[in-house]
Amino acid sequence: MNIILMGPPGAGKGTQAAYIKKEFPIPHISTGDMFREAVQNGTPMGLEAKKYMDAGELVPDQVTIGIVEDRLSMPDCSPGFLLDGFPRTIVQAEALDEVLKKLGKKLDVALNISVPEDVLTARMVGRVFCTSCKTVYNTIFNPTTIAGVCDKCGGKLEQRNDDKAETVKNRIKVYNEQTQPLLAYYAQQGNLVTVDGQKDPREVFQDVRALLERLG
Ligand code: AP5
Ligand code: MG
Ligand code: ZN
Repeated sequence: MNIILMGPPGAGKGTQAAYIKKEFPIPHISTGDMFREAVQNGTPMGLEAKKYMDAGELVPDQVTIGIVEDRLSMPDCSPGFLLDGFPRTIVQAEALDEVLKKLGKKLDVALNISVPEDVLTARMVGRVFCTSCKTVYNTIFNPTTIAGVCDKCGGKLEQRNDDKAETVKNRIKVYNEQTQPLLAYYAQQGNLVTVDGQKDPREVFQDVRALLERLG
C-alpha cells in the first residue's frame, strides 16, 4: 500500500505512523526524521537543513526531493511506503508523481489528519522525545510516569529544537501558505481522505485502520 500522511505540524502524523507500522509492514519515511538524523550526524546536508528547520521554514525542494527519490527506490519499498511530511509543496507533489511513474508505482491514498490550529500549538509545545529510543510523549496529553525519563527505556527526554512557541507559530504559517494547497491537489486526483485528528490517538487509529483495510 502506498500512503502519504498529511496534516499540519503537530497533527499526529508521527504518532499515527507508529500505529500503522505495527499492523501494515511498510517502511515509514519521514523527511523530518531524516533531516534530524542528518543534523545529528553533522553531515553537510544536515548542516544545510538545520538552518531552515530551526527557523520553522521548509528545506529547499531540490534537497528534499532528492532524498525521497533515493529512499523510494530502495527494495524495502516494494510492498509499499508510508510517507510522512512529504510532499509539502506543489513542486514536491509534482516531483513525487514523476518519481512514482518512473518506478511503476501508484499512490493509494493521501491521508489527511485534521486538527484545529489552537490545539496544534499546545501539542507541539508539550512534545518531548526520548534521546535513546525516539519514542514521542507529551507533557500535557501523554506524560511519562517520571517526568523527563522514558517509560520504555529509561532514556533522557528532550524537546525538539523547532518546538519553541515562536518557531511553532511560523511552522503553522508556512503550512497554511505552502502545504495546505496540496489538499486540493490530492482531492482533484481522487486520493484525499480526511480523518478527525482531535480524538484520542487510539481512536484516530481506529478510523485510520478501518480506512486502510477498506483500501487494502
Ligand atoms: P516534520 O518533522 O515533518 O514536522 P511537522 O510536519 O511540522 O510535524 P510534526 O512532526 O511536528 O508533527 P506530527 O504531525 O508528526 O505530530 P506528532 O505525532 O509528533 O518536519 C520538521 C521540519 O523539517 C520542517 O519544519 C522543515 O523544516 C523540514 N522538512 C520536513 N519535511 C520537509 C519537506 N517535505 N520539505 C521541506 N522541508 C521539510 O504529535 C505531536 C504531539 O502531539 C506529540 O507530543 C504527541 O504525543 C501528541 N499527540 C499526537 N496525537 C495526539 C492526539 N490525537 N491527541 C493528543 N495528543 C496527540
Ligand atoms: Mg512528525
Ligand atoms: Zn526511550
